[in-house]
Amino acid sequence: MTENIDRFGRKITYLRISVTDRCNFRCIYCMPASGVRWRPHSEILRYEEIIRVVRAAATLGIKKVRLTGGEPLVREGIIDLVGDLSNIAGIDEITLTTNGSLLRRYARELAHAGLKRVNISLDTLRPDRFRRITRRGSLEDTLTGIHAAQEAGLVPIKLNAVVMRGINDDEVPDLAELARDGFQVRFIEWMPIGKSNEDFASRFVAADEVRSRIEEALGPLEPLREEGPARVYRLPGVSGEDGQIGFISTFSSPFCATCNRIRLTADGKLRPCLLSPIEIDVKKPLRSGASDEEIVALIASSIERKPLSHGVANDAPRDRQMSQIGG
Ligand code: 5AD
Ligand code: SF4
Repeated sequence: MTENIDRFGRKITYLRISVTDRCNFRCIYCMPASGVRWRPHSEILRYEEIIRVVRAAATLGIKKVRLTGGEPLVREGIIDLVGDLSNIAGIDEITLTTNGSLLRRYARELAHAGLKRVNISLDTLRPDRFRRITRRGSLEDTLTGIHAAQEAGLVPIKLNAVVMRGINDDEVPDLAELARDGFQVRFIEWMPIGKSNEDFASRFVAADEVRSRIEEALGPLEPLREEGPARVYRLPGVSGEDGQIGFISTFSSPFCATCNRIRLTADGKLRPCLLSPIEIDVKKPLRSGASDEEIVALIASSIERKPLSHGVANDAPRDRQMSQIGG
């Protein structure tokens, strides 16, 4: 068995790294109203530690790294981390998932440091709703950030929308229209992770319903391809690369069979599956003199322990918030 092929034949080439559990937003689907207690800095992996893990992962065949949070751009020194990661042999692509609020400031430097693309959360185009959903953010800042990312060449940009009934589901067609401007708009099924989701059952909207709502408003979508967890379609009447709409149907139609990723949490746990509680600690070994071979072995074992599939929504992790695992 090759070390980056798991027990079910899936080839693991993608590592998602949460660089911080902190965020300047408090999105309703991600954090409870009461907020979460940030972990102390000492519990969060230092950049040198993250770099060691990525070097080890690269020797196993990891090629792609995505930085997430919390909000990765609130962590100091993030530009240097991107630069250092982009120099690691075997790592072909570094991307970042962000709420966009700080991109106006950082997009250009990130691109210079070697970042390829960004995924930006955008759940609504209405300022008042944006404030309600994020509890802190400003739509204007995020839109400015999206433009800054375009100008910096961090393209194609994926815009992520979590659809919630009675909160933003009526905006699905408007958000889909953004795909005409060269964004790939991705509709994500809300996952009941952590304690922020008491009204999950009444607010959940399955990907199929989102798709029909787009088709009712804009006409039939043309299926294009599967891309990681997303099923990608094209809006009618659009040609070339534009008009792409993705659906991430975590629960209504799980994509576990083609899952190619593992995760590293901000506090140094390897997590073979977002929705399974299995965690393998690398922080303690990193801090108690483990050799490179031992770090490689821990990553190999997290690939080895990747579960075949995740359970139903009710089994999703409640013990950790999404911001603590990495969105
Ligand atoms: N369900 C689905 N997606 C979520 N995200 C955060 N929390 C959740 C959740 N509970 C997604 C957001 C954001 C990314 C960081 O993670 O869409 O774009
Ligand atoms: Fe922050 Fe992203 Fe969570 Fe929103 S979803 S609170 S932007 S980490």
